[in-house]
Amino acid sequence: MKKIWVGTSWKMNKTGETAQDWANAVSTSVKNCNAGVQPFVIPPFPYITNVVSHFSDTKMKVGAQNMCWQDEGAFTGEVSPVMLKDCGATLVEIGHSERRGLFGESDKTVNQKVRAALKHGLTPLVCVGDSADEKQWGVSIESVVRQVKIALFQVPLAQVSQVIIAYEPIWAIGENGTPATNEEAEGVHQAIREALSRQYGEPIAQDMTLLYGGSVNLDNASELLDQPNIDGVFVGRTAWQASGYLELLSIAQSKANSTVKEPC
Ligand code: 13P
Repeated sequence: MKKIWVGTSWKMNKTGETAQDWANAVSTSVKNCNAGVQPFVIPPFPYITNVVSHFSDTKMKVGAQNMCWQDEGAFTGEVSPVMLKDCGATLVEIGHSERRGLFGESDKTVNQKVRAALKHGLTPLVCVGDSADEKQWGVSIESVVRQVKIALFQVPLAQVSQVIIAYEPIWAIGENGTPATNEEAEGVHQAIREALSRQYGEPIAQDMTLLYGGSVNLDNASELLDQPNIDGVFVGRTAWQASGYLELLSIAQSKANSTVKEPC
């Protein structure tokens, strides 16, 4: 049985103190969470070390929001995979639409980062998404599948299933976003899964973790998680308050409880 992933990126939010408050508030639930649920949190760089040490005896995975594809060198302002490993991160988010749209991240650099992450034993969490225009033109699937294919270019077959894909429609993210309906989200997830199956075979496609992100909230999370090709949710605003994250965790747990028998 696949795990249900429930994670949040804090984006550029929180201070050392509010980061600690969030970690304190979710600790017990994360410690006790069902074996069928995989929690994760992606803080800004300066807080990674503290968050890693806070959750060290739990199943919480801690990640970074970006990284450079180079190990070291004259790359002012960048953070390398080696440094992320050194801080205890195990995940790295790559190609979020805010990085693509505001900071010039390209499909090519996404692919370079995916391969660098895998080389260093970090799990890449690749975000892909269609714009509002692409949705209107009816090319969402083409756009998203193209991004997935480029992200996975020259990834060794044995490592493909380690890459997590998050479908995050650009029109669904943030304060002005409209959440995708279950049908819209599932339709694109299914198309991604089918494209992966054509490229890498059905077992690898089925093994891969596909998350949905973009205005996930306490009203739509449960039904999104019920969709056959959605393996988890990747959440911004709703999970920045510990209470929101705890609610999402409990929604996922109740689903996992009905399917997973083994204890934590
Ligand atoms: P929101 O949940 O705030 O729409 O953000 C989603 C997101 O970008 C997660 O990476």
